[in-house]
Amino acid sequence: MSRVFHVPAGTSASRARRAGPATTSPAPNVSFVCGAGSAGRGSASGRIVAGYLAPHPPHLIYADNPEQNEPRSRGGWEVLRWGYEELRRRIAGPNRPDVLVVHAPHWITMVGHHVNCVPNPRGISVEPIFPNLFRYHYDFRTDVELAESILAEADGLGLVTSAMREPDVRVDYATIGALHLANPAWDLPVVSISANNNPYFYSDAALDEMEVLGEATRRAIEKTGRNAVLLASNSLSHLHWDVEPDLPEDMSREHAYNQHQYEWDMRLLSAIREGPTSRLRELVPRHIEETSSETKAGSLSWLLSAMRWPDVPGDVLAYGTVIGTGNAVVEWTDRRA
Ligand SMILES: [Fe+2]
Repeated sequence: MSRVFHVPAGTSASRARRAGPATTSPAPNVSFVCGAGSAGRGSASGRIVAGYLAPHPPHLIYADNPEQNEPRSRGGWEVLRWGYEELRRRIAGPNRPDVLVVHAPHWITMVGHHVNCVPNPRGISVEPIFPNLFRYHYDFRTDVELAESILAEADGLGLVTSAMREPDVRVDYATIGALHLANPAWDLPVVSISANNNPYFYSDAALDEMEVLGEATRRAIEKTGRNAVLLASNSLSHLHWDVEPDLPEDMSREHAYNQHQYEWDMRLLSAIREGPTSRLRELVPRHIEETSSETKAGSLSWLLSAMRWPDVPGDVLAYGTVIGTGNAVVEWTDRRA
């Protein structure tokens, strides 16, 4: 666990940051909070029905031309977008969850782990490097009860936490990207978790805290009786071009940054496909060292920890590069659940 920001649970400072209204309001449209098939609030039978590695390059949404995004494109990056189509098919119908829980690397918090507790976030999310590709109008519902439960569990396990209750804070593109690609209709409630940024500054901080955050997330899901799908909003190898083609979706310019990056992505994905996930405890940090993988932000480790590092192979739905970075859509389901 990070030696830098770990403090005893329940300090007056963290309690003050976490404190909300005396009685918290449910999401405005409560029919979204517990969908059909939910075990219901307060029961102890909630579960994580599936977890997905769900990368967020803004190019994928740009290529889809959804009405929420202002720029228009001619397409591109189809194989990754087809992988997301399959993800959407798998979480529809009888497998439809009550809630999507996302951990994303571009909601960066310097101290502790924050959870969005705004009932109805609305605004425009802009990708700061690619505002020409991503200016997305969002309007979604938060499962506030689950959000607060994750905070309480994380706090109880000794993490520094904070409830984000400021409605004017712009939701980052990594959160919006994964959520849109998984559920463009936005008809499921959401819990959005920040990425504590200390791994980017302290190489030995590693991913230990994500183990704890994953445990807290699972406990909260079980206690609140939710059927949840988790989204880890991370790319894999993460070196990328610094010059954009005149046509951003020019696929004749799209390929792996170099052979080293590609081979390490394949090494990781081969291990994922073979299983069990326990192999990834050592391989993910090595992959980060070799490729500057975005999994350094912890989303993938959080997901696998929440699912108790299931003894199963992952199902790779798609792999492709975006401006040279490696991206995979991967599903894990826990047969023990
Ligand atoms: Fe990113």
